[in-house]
Amino acid sequence: MSQVLAFSNHDDPVLDAKSEQHLDWLCEQIIANRFLPVPPEEAVFVGDGDYRAIGAEFLGHFVRRAGLMPDHDVLDIGCGIGRMAVPLTQYIDASNAIYEGIDPVANGIEWCKRTISPAYPNFGFQTQDVKNALYNPEGSIGGRGMRLPFQDGAFDFTAMISVATHLPPEEIETYCTEVFRVLRPGGKLFL
Ligand SMILES: C[S@@+](CC[C@H](N)C(=O)[O-])C[C@H]1O[C@@H](n2cnc3c(N)ncnc32)[C@H](O)[C@@H]1O
Repeated sequence: MSQVLAFSNHDDPVLDAKSEQHLDWLCEQIIANRFLPVPPEEAVFVGDGDYRAIGAEFLGHFVRRAGLMPDHDVLDIGCGIGRMAVPLTQYIDASNAIYEGIDPVANGIEWCKRTISPAYPNFGFQTQDVKNALYNPEGSIGGRGMRLPFQDGAFDFTAMISVATHLPPEEIETYCTEVFRVLRPGGKLFL
C-alpha cells in the first residue's frame, strides 16, 4: 500500500533529536553553499523567492514529514528548473539511489542536464511534452493521456511540488494512477 502525504495532516516527528540536528545543519549548509548551482534569475520560471532556501526547506519537509531516506529512489514530477533537485544532490546517496526529474518545459530540463547531471550522474532529467495551458500550451500529449516513462515499482518517493495546483482535477486523477504504478509498495507521494 502506498501513501499520499497531505502537508497539514502529518505533524508527527519522524526523526530522533540527533537526526533532526543533522538535517538542520544540512539545510543550512545547502543555503550557504555558493558552489551549488543556481540558475540565472531570468531563467527561473517556477516562482519568486530564494531558489536555494526554498529547495532546502522542502528537503526538510521530505525528510521530516515523509521519511525520505538517502537510499530512496526519487521521482520529481514537474521538476521545473531543479529547485528540488539541487538540495537533493546533497542528501541522496550517489552510489545507492537515483533521482529522475520530468517536466514539459525544455529550457528548465536543459539547464538541469547541463548543470546537475555531469556532477551527479545518478540525477537524470527528461522533457515530457505534456500540454499545460500556462507552461506548455502547444504540448503534444494531453494530460489525461500522460504515461510516466518509467517501469512499475521503480521509485520509493515521488514529489509533485506546486504542480497539482496547475492541473485540472481530471488530470490529477491520471497522475495519481500513474504515480501509484511507478511507486514501490510502501512508497510515498508528496504533493
Ligand atoms: C510552480 S512550478 C514548480 C516547479 C518545481 N516543482 C519547483 O517546486 O521548483 C510548476 C511546474 O509544473 C510543471 N508542469 C506543468 N504542467 C505539468 C504537467 N502536466 N506535468 C508535469 N509537470 C507540469 C511546469 O512546467 C513547472 O515546472
